[in-house]
Amino acid sequence: MAVREIVQIGNPILREKANAVENFDPELRALVKDMIDTMRAAQGVGLAGPQVAEGLRLLVVELPEEEDDPLAGKPFALVNPEIIEASETVEEGQEGCLSIPGYIGDVWRHVEITVQGRNEWGKPKTIRASNFLARVLQHEIDHLDGILYIDRLESKDKLYKLEVEPAEEHEAAENVSV
Ligand code: NI
Repeated sequence: MAVREIVQIGNPILREKANAVENFDPELRALVKDMIDTMRAAQGVGLAGPQVAEGLRLLVVELPEEEDDPLAGKPFALVNPEIIEASETVEEGQEGCLSIPGYIGDVWRHVEITVQGRNEWGKPKTIRASNFLARVLQHEIDHLDGILYIDRLESKDKLYKLEVEPAEEHEAAENVSV
């Protein structure tokens, strides 16, 4: 198990466009394992390559088991993901980011999306995601293009500082940080 340091806002790598993964090799699979370890240690539900200082187009997600989603509780990686379809219906919802600790914000996202990519072995993978999973995937794919959720806030009033005791902060942020 290798928990990596999560890159924080202000680091330029978070603003760069990540490169497509070309080699589906053991090194990539080791990186995926590290990213899942890192995401779990931080009690996040998603993590993108640039957040561990790897400028590569890959992300990992693990929805909490209690989420009403077939993929809940099952960690997975998505490499070179592309949104190929998005619903016209959008919804505003709360998001946090492991690279922007102590804050959450309300962001509009497509309610349903279809994402195509590959798993860490290079096998093509299509995910039809809705609601929370769709939100998490849109947030993570944004990271691959150097976009942070704070860029998508309608106004500054939609960003909230978490006013909680440090002990509670973890719990409060648990289900929203990606
Ligand atoms: Ni994030």
